[in-house]
Amino acid sequence: MTEVALRAVIKGTGSALPRNRVSNAELARRVDTTDEWITERTGIKFRHIAEPDETTSSLAIEASRRALDAAGMSASDIDLIILATATPDQTFPASATIVQHALGCNGGVAFDVAAVCSGFLYAFSVAESMIRAGSAHNALVIGAETFSRILDWEDRTTCVLFGDGAGAVVLSGEVGIRGALVTKLHADGQHNELLYVDGGPSTTGTVGQLRMKGREVFRHAVTNLTNVLHEVLAATDLTPADIDWVVPHQANARIIAATAKKLALDPNKVVLTVDQHANTSAASVPLALDVAVRDGRIKKGDVVVLEAMGGGFTWGASIVRM
Ligand code: UT7
Repeated sequence: MTEVALRAVIKGTGSALPRNRVSNAELARRVDTTDEWITERTGIKFRHIAEPDETTSSLAIEASRRALDAAGMSASDIDLIILATATPDQTFPASATIVQHALGCNGGVAFDVAAVCSGFLYAFSVAESMIRAGSAHNALVIGAETFSRILDWEDRTTCVLFGDGAGAVVLSGEVGIRGALVTKLHADGQHNELLYVDGGPSTTGTVGQLRMKGREVFRHAVTNLTNVLHEVLAATDLTPADIDWVVPHQANARIIAATAKKLALDPNKVVLTVDQHANTSAASVPLALDVAVRDGRIKKGDVVVLEAMGGGFTWGASIVRM
């Protein structure tokens, strides 16, 4: 039984996707690939690709408005905004401040976190720590990306894997048994060259494009995610049987299946959206969470595991009682 304590409780979720949905067959007309290859190797069928008027911040704003609505709260209640993204609107200011202004939040704190596909877990951890410390009361934690803008559309080994989107949660401090029970984060910079962008303001002066050695990343992902999932379970004395839902980072259906198998997690308890959204990096976990909350699978009181791994490498997991 979880003890009563001040915790950050997820009060509402929201998400947003660009208008343009692109199928594997459409991509196959643009690059040397097939629907069969993409489906078999990744589980992806569709991804949403931002039009010029859709940006990381515009998607983040839309997802945030939906999360606020779901929480029954208004922008003026929010005193902390953390936006996880590797594709900000500008090098600076932080896209979180663009969201803050658009929503009409006055005051409080707003900043971006860069941990690529693990960005939402990192942002979530910072927000829930600040809430428990009393330095914030109501937070918007957002993952939003427009990876289509940093893809090399000539490189079939990467461009078919990613999509654009945003997801957001409203977190509020509450005394009780609900909320974030434990979060564990990790980073290991020695593997930078396996997944990176070949540009940046301080090096090339250009935005750059995503480069990945997929097979190696796959191997590290299964190992790191399995380890961190064991770690969060051990920290809470929960067993896989106690978990109602797993909301994994949606990079590849085979990574998700292999990780679930290693932990003896029931595959029917794993939320899968990679077929519809592809890999949306920092947006993937809150986007999948919102899908499963809105379709009624994830309910108040459920024990949910969030997990992600990405460039850096960075990875992490969290157990939350909804
Ligand atoms: O979110 C951040 C974390 N990222 C990830 O978790 C991604 C992890 N990696 C993966 O998901 C997988 O490794 C990929 C989906 C990227 C690749 O799957 P794979 O089973 O590891 O394939 P592979 O890289 O070993 O490539 C197999 C073959 C190669 O051809 P050869 O050398 O066997 O002749 C590739 O050239 O598939 C070829 N290939 C393609 N064929 C058709 C690579 N991309 C494509 C493509 N269409 N789009």
